[in-house]
Amino acid sequence: MTDPLDRAIAHARVWLDQLDTAPAGATATAADLRKALGGPLPEQPGDPAALIDALAANTRGGLNANTGGRFYGWVMSGGLPGALAADWLVSAWDQNVGLYSVAPAAAMIEDITGAWLKELFDLPRESSFAFTTGCQLAHVVCLSAARHRMLAARGWDVEMQGLSGAPAIRVLTSQNRHKSIDAAARYLGLGQNSLVDVETGPMGDMSARDLERRLAEGAAPTIVCLNAADLNVGTFDDFSVLIPLARRAGAWVHVDGAFGLFARVSPKLRAMTDGIDGADSWATDGHKWLNVPYDCGIALVRDADAHRAAMSMGAAYLSPSGEARDPNDWNLELSRRARAIPVYVALQELGREGVAELVERCCRHCRAIVEGIGALPGARALNTPSLNQGLVRFEEPGRSDTENDRFTDAVIARINASGEAFFSGTTWNGRRVMRVSVVSWRTNKADVARAIAAAAAALGTSNIRP
Ligand SMILES: Cc1ncc(COP(=O)(O)O)c(C=O)c1O
Repeated sequence: MTDPLDRAIAHARVWLDQLDTAPAGATATAADLRKALGGPLPEQPGDPAALIDALAANTRGGLNANTGGRFYGWVMSGGLPGALAADWLVSAWDQNVGLYSVAPAAAMIEDITGAWLKELFDLPRESSFAFTTGCQLAHVVCLSAARHRMLAARGWDVEMQGLSGAPAIRVLTSQNRHKSIDAAARYLGLGQNSLVDVETGPMGDMSARDLERRLAEGAAPTIVCLNAADLNVGTFDDFSVLIPLARRAGAWVHVDGAFGLFARVSPKLRAMTDGIDGADSWATDGHKWLNVPYDCGIALVRDADAHRAAMSMGAAYLSPSGEARDPNDWNLELSRRARAIPVYVALQELGREGVAELVERCCRHCRAIVEGIGALPGARALNTPSLNQGLVRFEEPGRSDTENDRFTDAVIARINASGEAFFSGTTWNGRRVMRVSVVSWRTNKADVARAIAAAAAALGTSNIRP
C-alpha cells in the first residue's frame, strides 16, 4: 500500500515548486470547488493515499499562493522551510500540550519559546505568555487578564461572580483599530458599546490630547488599546507619550502588535516601538511576520497573576505536574496542538539577526511596490511606507470619487486576474484603495518588478471602465 504521508510530501513539493509560476491568487469559483470537493457523505472506508491524491487534485485552483512571494493580500505569509517541516512533525507527534505531564517535550519547548519571544521583542521578562490560534484570540487572553485585574481592583471577582452587576469596563481605542479588538470585547462580555473612539491624527495615530480628555471622563475601569501598527499604513501609536498617560490614570494598556511588534527586532525600525514595553499586554502573531504556518498567535501579559487567574481552570483530575509550566494555566483551550514548536524552529532558523533582516527586507519591498505602482499614470500612492503596509489608489482624470472607487476595484481585479500578483482592497478615509502588505520571507526583487508590471498592464488596458 502507498503511504499517504509519501503522497502528501509529493503533493506539497509540487505545490511549493510551482509558487514562482502559478497564479498568485485562487482561480476557482465557489461553484467549481463545491463540485470538485462535495458529494454525499461516504458510506465505505477509502484508501488514505488515494484520498490524499484526490484532495490535491480537487483543491486545484482553490488555493491562494500566500505561501509564495507574490501574494500581498491582507497580512499573510507562508511557512519558512524549517518551520513548515516542524509543523508536519507537530501533527505526526500529535502531542496534546495542555499539561506538561501529558506532553513533556512540547510543553518544555513552549516554555523556552515564550522566554525567547520576550527576549526577541525586549518586553518585560516577568511577563507570562500563551500560544493561541491567532492574534484575535491573543487579544481575548490579554483582555481577560485586563478584565480580571481591573475588576479585582474594585473588589469584584469576575471569574466567580461573572459580569452581571459588575462595574462597567470601558475600552478606549481608535477607529484605526483592527476589528479583532471589537470581537474580543464581545467574547468577553464587555460588549462593543464599551469601545470608545479616541481621535486620531491624519495617519491614524491616537491623539494624546483626546486620550487625556477621555481618561479624565469618569472613573470607570479602563482598558486602552493601542496599535503597533495599523494594518493600512503601518502607523504606530506614540507609546512613549500615550502609555504613561494611561497608566497614570490607572488604565490597563493593551497593544495590538499583530505584525508591527516585529519592528522592535530591527535596530533600524525599533524606534517606532519606543515605550511599548511600558504596556500591560501585547498580542502578536507567529503566522504573519515570523512566517510560521497557521495557526499561531502569541499573547504576552506583564501581570502574570492576572493572566493565570483569568485562564487557569485547576480541575483535580488534570493533576498539574508542578514540575514545569502547564500551558493550560495560560490558554483558553485545554487540549490543543503544540503550535509553539514551529516558532521554536523558526527562531533558530532565522536567529535574531535573520528576523531583523526579514522584517527590513519586507519593508524595502513594500516601499518599492508602493512607489513603483504609485508612479504609474492613473495611480497614486497614499503613503510612503516606513513599515510593510502601503496604500495605492487608481484614478482617471475627470472622474468622480465614486467612479474612481469602482475604477480602483476594477484595477485590483485585473491585477489579480493576471495571476502575477495578488492584492486586497479596502476602504480608507471613505475611499476604495489597494492595500500592499509584504510579510513573506519569499518575496524578492523579481516579485516586486512583476507586481509593478502587472499593475502597469492592468492600467494600460482600455476596457477597465467604472
Ligand atoms: C493589526 C491586526 N490585528 C489583529 C489581527 C487578527 O489576527 P489573526 O487573524 O491572527 O487573529 C490582524 C490580522 O488579521 C491584524 O492585521
